[in-house]
Amino acid sequence: MKKRILFVDDEPEVLSGLRRMLRGLRHEWEMVFTESGKQALDLFAEAPFDVVVTDMRMPEMNGAQLLARITRDFPRAIRIVLSGYSDQDMILKSVCTAHQYLSKPCDAETLKAVITRAASLRETVYNEKVREVVAKMETLPSVPTLYARITEVLQSPQASMQEIGDIISQDVGMTAKILQLVNSAFFGLPRKITRVSQAAGLLGLDTIRTLVLTAGVFKAFEQVKIPGFDLDRLWGHSMGVGACARGLARHQALPREAVDTASLAGMLHDAGKLVLAAALPEAFGEIMERARQEGRPLWEVEQETLQTSHAEIGAYLMGAWGLPDAVVEALTFHHQPMKSHVYEIGPLLFTHVGDALSRAADMGADDIGGNRLLDRAYLEKLNIMKILPKWQEICAEIVTRGGEDHE
Ligand SMILES: [Fe+2]
Ligand SMILES: [Fe+2]
Repeated sequence: MKKRILFVDDEPEVLSGLRRMLRGLRHEWEMVFTESGKQALDLFAEAPFDVVVTDMRMPEMNGAQLLARITRDFPRAIRIVLSGYSDQDMILKSVCTAHQYLSKPCDAETLKAVITRAASLRETVYNEKVREVVAKMETLPSVPTLYARITEVLQSPQASMQEIGDIISQDVGMTAKILQLVNSAFFGLPRKITRVSQAAGLLGLDTIRTLVLTAGVFKAFEQVKIPGFDLDRLWGHSMGVGACARGLARHQALPREAVDTASLAGMLHDAGKLVLAAALPEAFGEIMERARQEGRPLWEVEQETLQTSHAEIGAYLMGAWGLPDAVVEALTFHHQPMKSHVYEIGPLLFTHVGDALSRAADMGADDIGGNRLLDRAYLEKLNIMKILPKWQEICAEIVTRGGEDHE
C-alpha cells in the first residue's frame, strides 16, 4: 500500500515547491497538500495519514496547535515540523508533539530521506494499538531523583554545563530526548551527534533551561506499582550495558564516534521497557509475571502477547525521534542480532554482547547464566568467539566497578 503523506503550509509557493521537489516519489507516496490546519484536520478525518509535515507559523491554527490536535485525535501519524529558522520560539512550543524538525529551505534528499524513514517505521511494530501508544509518547520518563536534580540545578544561576551533561547522561529518557532535539535537522548539523556532553554544549544552557523548565521536555516516571518492575534495576542495567558496549568498542580501538554510538545504543537498548511500563503498565506487569513463571525471556512473552517486543517498541520510538540508524538497528535486533543481516563490529554487536554479559556478571556467577543469551552463530560469523573470554573479563570488570566507564 502507498504511504500517505500530508503537507501543510499557508504559503502556496512553498507547497508547489514541495510538490515539484517530490514529484519523483508519486508512485510510492500518496501526497496531499493543504494550506491550513483546519483543512488538514478535515483531511485526516476522511482518511488518516502515515506522516504529516507541517509549517509552524500559520494564521488561525499554527503548527504547534495542529500537531497537538493530531497527537490527540490521530496519534498513529509521525509528525514532522518544517519551518524557518526565525521560528525558534515557536519550535520550543512543539518540542513535545513533533517527532522531528526540518528547517526551510530543506534540500530534496534530506526531506526524502526523513519522510521515507518515518513512513517505513510503522512496519517495525505490527500491533496497531501499540503503535498508537508509542507514537503518542512525548517523553520517555526519567528516574525521579535525576529529574529532581536536573530541575534543581537548572534553577540555580550557577548551573554548569558539565553538571547538566553529567545528569542527563545518567538518564535514558533525558539522553534520548536531548539527542532527538540536537539531531533534528533544525540545528543543521552535518552529522548525527551521539554524545550527550556534545549535544548539551550545542544546545546551550539557556535553551536547555527553557526546554526543561518551560517546555517540559523531561518528565519524572510516575511511581505506579507494576508487579515485578523495578525502575532502579532497569536503570542499573541500562547504564551497565551502555558502559559495557563502550568498554568493548574501546577495547577494539574503534574511533571515538563509533565508541559514542555503541555506548548510546547500549544505554538505550531497553528503552522499549520504559515505554511499556509508562504506557501499558497492566499488560507489562502480566507479561513480566508470565515470563517469570515460565522461565522465558521477556521479549518472547511480549511477542506472544503483543505481537511485538520492547526491542521493536524502543526502536520505533527512537526512529521516530530521528536518532541515528545504527542505534535504531541495535535496539531492534539486540536479542537476535542474526536477524539483522548486519555483520559488522559495531553498535549492534556491542549492545547484544554487553546485554548478555553484563547480566551474567551481575548474577555474580563465574559462568554465567547470561551466556545462553548470546547468539553464538552471530559471534562465530563475526569471528568473535576466540576473543569472547577477554570480552567477558572486560564486562565483568565494568559491572563490578558499578558500570562506570567514563572518560
Ligand atoms: Fe532487551
Ligand atoms: Fe537488556
